[in-house]
Amino acid sequence: MRTRITEDIQEAAGFIRSGELVAFPTETVYGLGADATNEQAVLKAFEAKARPMDNPVIVHIADFSDLTGVAQSMSDSAMALMESFFPGPLTLILDRHPGISDVVSAGLPTVGVRMPMHELALKLIRTAGQPIAAPSANLSGRPSPTTWQAVREDLDGKIACILKGERTPVGLESTVVDCAREVPVVLRSGSITLEQLRSVVPDTKVADVDRDLLAPHSPGLRHRHYAPHARVVLIDDTESIGAPEKSAYIGLIKVDNPGSLLICEHVADLEDYAYRLFEFFRECDRFGAETVYCHRVPLEGFGVALMDRLERAARG
Ligand code: TXA
Ligand code: MG
Repeated sequence: MRTRITEDIQEAAGFIRSGELVAFPTETVYGLGADATNEQAVLKAFEAKARPMDNPVIVHIADFSDLTGVAQSMSDSAMALMESFFPGPLTLILDRHPGISDVVSAGLPTVGVRMPMHELALKLIRTAGQPIAAPSANLSGRPSPTTWQAVREDLDGKIACILKGERTPVGLESTVVDCAREVPVVLRSGSITLEQLRSVVPDTKVADVDRDLLAPHSPGLRHRHYAPHARVVLIDDTESIGAPEKSAYIGLIKVDNPGSLLICEHVADLEDYAYRLFEFFRECDRFGAETVYCHRVPLEGFGVALMDRLERAARG
């Protein structure tokens, strides 16, 4: 298949309507979109990414009225979180409407719903006239793509279309909160922080690794996460950068003598770190880095999501 790269929303929406896959930008990362009401189309997304079938995908909506055919019986806390954070980098797990196929939810009675805060994403959903089911637009096991070129690197020839946009402004995937339980539980950290969630629903919890994350209702978190081919080492200071041969660095502290490093990314703050991290990992693979040093950040606010991605990468 020849992958069409376009900036034309009408053309991209046409592919969605005819059951084909379209990668598109959101504020977090690029998604690989399929008509959420078309089971065959959603199956194509699993196939193109080589994604395990037991890992459900998020349904993206553009307007609150789209919720009707996607989710049902929403709790008061779910409503409150939506009111505060939709549109934005937040995914809520809700009771699934029967109109959404089993394939989207990997057989769970729930569905992940997100209203992205990105003009192109919202226009694509509205023009297609259907909610769009979309995992991140990477091959399974690779970092989520933050540029259209990264999408092409992974999926060229496997999908109908890439809706070309700018680099995604956040750079990390959305915060996932399970609202199908008694109190909301954070399943995946993201740029909407625990503090922000608790300012709206004070008893919001963080998932307990054994009880919540290994349970069947949060399947994605069991799967292996992306790590570069290189060994990832988390460091607290730049003196820990040993053997710089075929090494790369990313972090808040400036390296005095970056000369021997393949890549040296000095980031301005946590937001900048998140913005650059996944593309940095891809760059490390392209350059054949063997050791990748990543500077740790404090486990508070947005730092929690960043450390989550860094620790997963370091675990390999
Ligand atoms: O920012 C994002 O969330 C991006 C953009 C494209 O929206 N999407 C994304 O999708 O990261 P994906 O498929 O890479 O990650 C979705 C996560 C997975 O961990 C999946 O298991 C979880 O959300 N998820 C989806 N539906 C779920 C459900 N019904 N119950 C529990 N977890 C669910
Ligand atoms: Mg993903």
